[in-house]
Amino acid sequence: MSDISIGALDEQTIERVIEQGLGVRAKRDARKWVALRLALAASLRLPTPPDESLDHIEDRKGGNSYHLEQVTGKGLRHEDGEPRQDYDDTACALLSIFHQMNLFDDYAAYRRFLQRHIRRGLREFRTGWRDSHDFHEFLFQELFSGESRHAVDDGLVDRLSGALEEIGITAETRRVVEGPRLTRFFLYLPSADDLAPITRGLGKLGHILGLGAQNAFLTHTDEPKVIALDIPRRQDTWSTVMGYQLADWADKYEGDFLLPVWPGVDVIGNPFVLDLAVAPHLLVGGTTGSGKSVCLNALIVSLLRGPSRERLQLCLIDPKRVEFEPYRRLEGLFGGEVITEAQEARAVLLQLVVEMETRTQLLAQVGARDLAEAHQHGVMLDVLRIVVVVEELADLLMQDEDAEMPLVRLAGKARASGIHLVLATQRPDAATFSGLLRSNIPSRIALTVQKASESKIILDETGADHLTGQGDMLIKTAQGTTRVHGVKVSTDDIASAISRYQRNG
Ligand SMILES: Nc1ncnc2c1ncn2[C@@H]1O[C@H](COP(=O)(O)OP(=O)(O)O)[C@@H](O)[C@H]1O
Ligand SMILES: [Mg+2]
Repeated sequence: MSDISIGALDEQTIERVIEQGLGVRAKRDARKWVALRLALAASLRLPTPPDESLDHIEDRKGGNSYHLEQVTGKGLRHEDGEPRQDYDDTACALLSIFHQMNLFDDYAAYRRFLQRHIRRGLREFRTGWRDSHDFHEFLFQELFSGESRHAVDDGLVDRLSGALEEIGITAETRRVVEGPRLTRFFLYLPSADDLAPITRGLGKLGHILGLGAQNAFLTHTDEPKVIALDIPRRQDTWSTVMGYQLADWADKYEGDFLLPVWPGVDVIGNPFVLDLAVAPHLLVGGTTGSGKSVCLNALIVSLLRGPSRERLQLCLIDPKRVEFEPYRRLEGLFGGEVITEAQEARAVLLQLVVEMETRTQLLAQVGARDLAEAHQHGVMLDVLRIVVVVEELADLLMQDEDAEMPLVRLAGKARASGIHLVLATQRPDAATFSGLLRSNIPSRIALTVQKASESKIILDETGADHLTGQGDMLIKTAQGTTRVHGVKVSTDDIASAISRYQRNG
């Protein structure tokens, strides 16, 4: 019997890694262990254990099995009997440490964990590595970068005081706080007259400091005469906000938000939470590659782990067909499954409109304007909160413009009906995000855009054109606009959120 089994997609990933990634053609079979070990290494880099759903192989046909001899070199010997490249004990020790249990005594568990890690690593390669990227560069990022890559930009304090002097401002640095991507300087301005020049001088400051297209930002503080100046740092000093942090915030949440979601952290690294039940809808806009899909995943994982998960139903619409792939095994979706056909999407949206009207009538019968008011009157309406997530609104409307009407109607009555919309688009123009939809979706998330005019379409203000990309965002709610660095949610984070959700309800 072989020790490790993998599915067809995994096997294809191995071949892609070897042929396209490593550029090795000859003796292909003999090289597969390289890909298997790289996948193991990539998985061991993640701080959370791989999800148990990896035990189940959906696509066995076209998959493959491997003996430990191939994977870890178990039992390999030179002709004289000396062990040769036998890393089996090493692998077993690494996994024992990772899982905090002695796997030397439990061969079945060792094999199972090894398979989970290898399959997770291959999945990371599959979802994270784009053909346009050099594989070695990707691998380097995957194996050696990430949250631990936090090197402080030492010279920045000096360069900033030089730059302030150069634009004629006297300021005293009170405190410096290193956020994930920006450094916040709390500047004490002895003369209030310096406030206007520093605001006007931000462009010059950026120029002197060499910030490129990014800007320095000013925020008021509640300390007298102290202003916060945020300076973006070099990319090699950034730290990633990891998916397990989001899991932790959601699992330990004790506040009273009904549908808390955590898109990321603020400039100084504190988790940023907003209540989707209050929002009550969200538009997520940004250029291709700015991090919209990752952001949607953060919102969905928040909901699956959040306090209302037992009273929650998701409706996932993905006209691009691939982005919501990880949610295929999620049970109880509105519409029965992830919706990928535009026709089907419209049918499901119309069904939601009917649901909305039923709910509105129920509320009218008990004399309440919305679910919360009914609750206050002591009437518990037995309805679920429904969150509809559309991955690429423009694609949906292009394929079926009639899908807009039900969206507009749903947008108008969220508070009463408990049905919320999260709409993502890379083209937030008037055609996609029309006046009717706009006015009923006041909460917006803008990821990086190219032009100030695009920022205005999403947020009604500029700023998103000066973000640093890769999940950097501005979030606008009734409370104002906040800069947030997004959580980098991986397929693995999604898988464990789903497993937990289905286990506990
Ligand atoms: N919060 C984040 N932190 C770090 N990198 C991110 C983050 N969000 C996105 N990225 C990077 O940007 C890439 C593109 O993100 P994606 O969500 O697919 O963009 P979009 O959907 O806007 O095209 C991701 O593959 C990832 O490498
Ligand atoms: Mg996307």
